[in-house]
Amino acid sequence: MTNGQSTAQTRVFSGVQPTGKLHLGNYLGALKKFVALQHQHECLFCIVDLHAITVPQEKGQLADNTREIAAAFLAAGIDPDKAVIFVQSTVPAHAELAWIFNCTAKMGWLERMTQFKDKAGKDKERASVGLFAYPVLQAADILAYKATHVPVGDDQKQHLELSRDIAERFNREYDAPKFFPQPEPLIQGPGARIMSLKDGTVKMSKSDPSDLSRINMDDTPEKIAKKFKKARTDPDGVPASTEELLGRDGARNLIGIYAGLAEISQQQVLDQFAGQGWGVFKPALADLAVAKLTPIAENFTRYQNDPAELDRILSVGTQKAAAISAPIIAEVRDIVGFWKN
Ligand code: AMP
Ligand code: TRP
Repeated sequence: MTNGQSTAQTRVFSGVQPTGKLHLGNYLGALKKFVALQHQHECLFCIVDLHAITVPQEKGQLADNTREIAAAFLAAGIDPDKAVIFVQSTVPAHAELAWIFNCTAKMGWLERMTQFKDKAGKDKERASVGLFAYPVLQAADILAYKATHVPVGDDQKQHLELSRDIAERFNREYDAPKFFPQPEPLIQGPGARIMSLKDGTVKMSKSDPSDLSRINMDDTPEKIAKKFKKARTDPDGVPASTEELLGRDGARNLIGIYAGLAEISQQQVLDQFAGQGWGVFKPALADLAVAKLTPIAENFTRYQNDPAELDRILSVGTQKAAAISAPIIAEVRDIVGFWKN
């Protein structure tokens, strides 16, 4: 991929949690990249419901939220004939390998994970053991398929490093050199870190209490325009060079969003708008976002209205994913030295 590996040796894996509506950060940081990758590589895109239950979920919502992510994948342009779309809990390999990796990973490695610290908050004692072991399950997701490349947003960098450490330690511990590959994160690009529209120093997130902080994938054009209009910037207008965006978090975020949506570099955005005020830039950004997101929102509604088709696609995905991971898990069992019947 980046280092000239041929497609035959690459396998792409990524996961998204079924925990509510997707936003522009999920789209630019993950889904949009998935769509591009499916044309050149074998891809598996997983709805990670086992990860979702590491924190309490609304009762009775999990299956619907799972279908919702499937609908979003398809609406964004993932083609189920090209990529495998499936649900994590339907392939037992994930939980099985996660247990084995729980015995490979060290407490100290997990204690360093910033996402755990953020999500557990002050009262660590009340966090679930699952939340602590979350990144171990993520490593199992990737390595149950010996995936080589993992497209994710910047917030997943540390988890990917842990996956690499687990792969390396397992190989060493069990004297199985090169059994698991070192999965490479695919994080680059302007969409990798989309920040809150209200505060350019924190990432755009589902869990932000303010809806004005994010563009949801199904926001109406009016809402999108309003949210960008209210987005935090600064009194200076659009600068001419990316260096001049340093320290201007809100401004840089909006330029990055434009670049991600238009598929051009930040400098190209600046070339187009340098010297303009935000009163000119923001409506242009809103128009671009509406043009890109409206067709996806329409497709999304269409898929949401056909749960039988979503279920059919997910069932096929389960079969395909299980067929890829089964021989890998059989080998793992052999390497660990479990009794066989
Ligand atoms: P999640 O919804 O937390 O499962 O995230 C799904 C994907 O979206 C992951 O690849 C995240 O890294 C990515 N993502 C989430 N928030 C952002 C953001 N603000 N900017 C870029 N990518 C993001
Ligand atoms: N932790 C990821 C997130 O919150 C979701 C995820 C779970 C994932 N398993 C994965 C991403 C495997 C990439 C590969 O966004």
